[in-house]
Amino acid sequence: MRGVTRRAFTAHAGLALAAGSLPFSSAIPAQPAADGGVIGLTGAAGRLGTQVVDALLRNVPPQRIVAIARNREEQTAGLAAKGVTVRFADYDYPEQLLAAFRGVDRLLLISSSGGKRVAQHGAVVAAAKERGVKFLAYTSFLRAATSQLSVRADHLATEQILAGSGLAWAALRNGWYTENYEGDVATALRTGEITAGSGAGRISPATRADYGAAAAAVLVDTSRPSGQLHELAGDTSFTMAELAAEIARQSGRPVVYRNLSEAQFRASMAARGMPEAAIANSWASQAAIAQGALFDDSRQLSRLIGRPTTPWQQSVTAMLEKARG
Ligand SMILES: NC(=O)c1ccc[n+]([C@@H]2O[C@H](COP(=O)([O-])OP(=O)(O)OC[C@H]3O[C@@H](n4cnc5c(N)ncnc54)[C@H](OP(=O)(O)O)[C@@H]3O)[C@@H](O)[C@H]2O)c1
Repeated sequence: MRGVTRRAFTAHAGLALAAGSLPFSSAIPAQPAADGGVIGLTGAAGRLGTQVVDALLRNVPPQRIVAIARNREEQTAGLAAKGVTVRFADYDYPEQLLAAFRGVDRLLLISSSGGKRVAQHGAVVAAAKERGVKFLAYTSFLRAATSQLSVRADHLATEQILAGSGLAWAALRNGWYTENYEGDVATALRTGEITAGSGAGRISPATRADYGAAAAAVLVDTSRPSGQLHELAGDTSFTMAELAAEIARQSGRPVVYRNLSEAQFRASMAARGMPEAAIANSWASQAAIAQGALFDDSRQLSRLIGRPTTPWQQSVTAMLEKARG
């Protein structure tokens, strides 16, 4: 189903139908304008996307949700079972995007994980505009305009495309996912240590469920002005040493954090076969995190979702359970 030969498909309540065989209007009931209409999201089969769908379903009926995925029929069965309309589109194929956005009023663009994402995001914005989408929210990155982390560049470029698009829009400037530390937790159980080069830099992560709830809140609220920049991060923070201590406390095993010098960090990445350019970028990220690039105490996320963010210690419990299988 990849590539230009793939047709856009729509599936509703588990029933997959070729887009051309059923008018889209019959898959999406007409909605009164006052309720914000139909809400669509890309990346819907991904880990953040599924959280957004669940959060949306707590606020709006499934008939108002269009979940757009790339290429995972087997993984979208769960979405269709929730009663939402499922469509398929790849950011690289504008005609698929146009088909998928038909009838969508408010759209969430979940950032691509590929290497050409500014062009891909630009294609999504262009298709949304052509289809008459009224509002587009984009999953950007914490302090995208000023962050020392190189990942910010694509996100800022996408925000600039949106700002110049004429669409009403918002940036969900997501900080770090707590789940990014799943590998560290598993390593800690195995070796009794976690390593990085971020020193005593504080990190304010939140779970994908927290960020998903924020995206849903912005999508359902039609009263927000265009161009809002939401700087989103967890209410509480840790250093890597504090993370190690919490893993030790909860697991009952000794776990330490070993902070690597630049030379040690580079040697460790090289031993894993990482190319020099990636090592340089990775070390620069460690240095930025040491300077607080992933710290934020604005609490905008918890205000947006109307509850505290998931305590990171609770996430450690979940990650330990996952690591133990
Ligand atoms: N804040 C953070 O800590 C953090 C960390 C890592 C990544 N991110 C960013 O946040 C995004 C969402 O995170 P996640 O955890 O949900 O990642 P994920 O589970 O990998 O989901 C990303 C989704 O985007 C889809 N996608 C990728 N390229 C696409 C394309 N060309 N056309 C259509 N769909 C495409 C993927 O589809 P497939 O399933 O078909 O691949 C996937 O469903 C990531 O893509 C990345 O940009 C943020």
